[in-house]
Amino acid sequence: MGSENLAYALTQVVHNFGAACVLGGAVFALWPVPRLESARAFARLICLAWGAQIASGILFGLTSLYFYGETPDLSSVALAALAIKVTAAISGFLLAASYLIRGREWSHLAVQHSFRGLAALAAIALTAAAFLRWYS
Ligand code: HEM
Repeated sequence: MGSENLAYALTQVVHNFGAACVLGGAVFALWPVPRLESARAFARLICLAWGAQIASGILFGLTSLYFYGETPDLSSVALAALAIKVTAAISGFLLAASYLIRGREWSHLAVQHSFRGLAALAAIALTAAAFLRWYS
């Protein structure tokens, strides 16, 4: 019980800080004033944080498999919420990575739209997380 709780808690620490970074990083790059001169630094943090969300999300599943021999039996609402989170995480990771790879050629407006997109994906994932939690 002790090691199981510790494994879930440590995974949740990474998952919670990742969630804070994907939303906070994108919002802070745009608001209250745009800081697009530091956009690449924000994008690096955000890309890493989306990667951490994917890795810690998988680790949740692996922890359940290790301790219970199966993943939790999810309701259809929880399953839809999980699918939304996975889609948001993959899209967020790819968007931040494309900006890092090709963003130097993008217009100011395109960069601003990308960060708005990243913030929206983070807000969608956080909303889905609440449904995953309470409809599991
Ligand atoms: C591959 C993507 C992801 C997977 C597989 C995943 C999976 C999970 C799992 C299994 C839990 C535990 C659910 C429970 O306590 O019943 C969880 C919790 C959580 N996830 Fe994710 N997640 C992913 C992405 C994200 C993203 C992108 C965010 C936010 C930006 C996020 C935010 C949260 C939060 C806040 C919780 C805690 C909910 C609570 O206990 O109240 N997750 N996630």
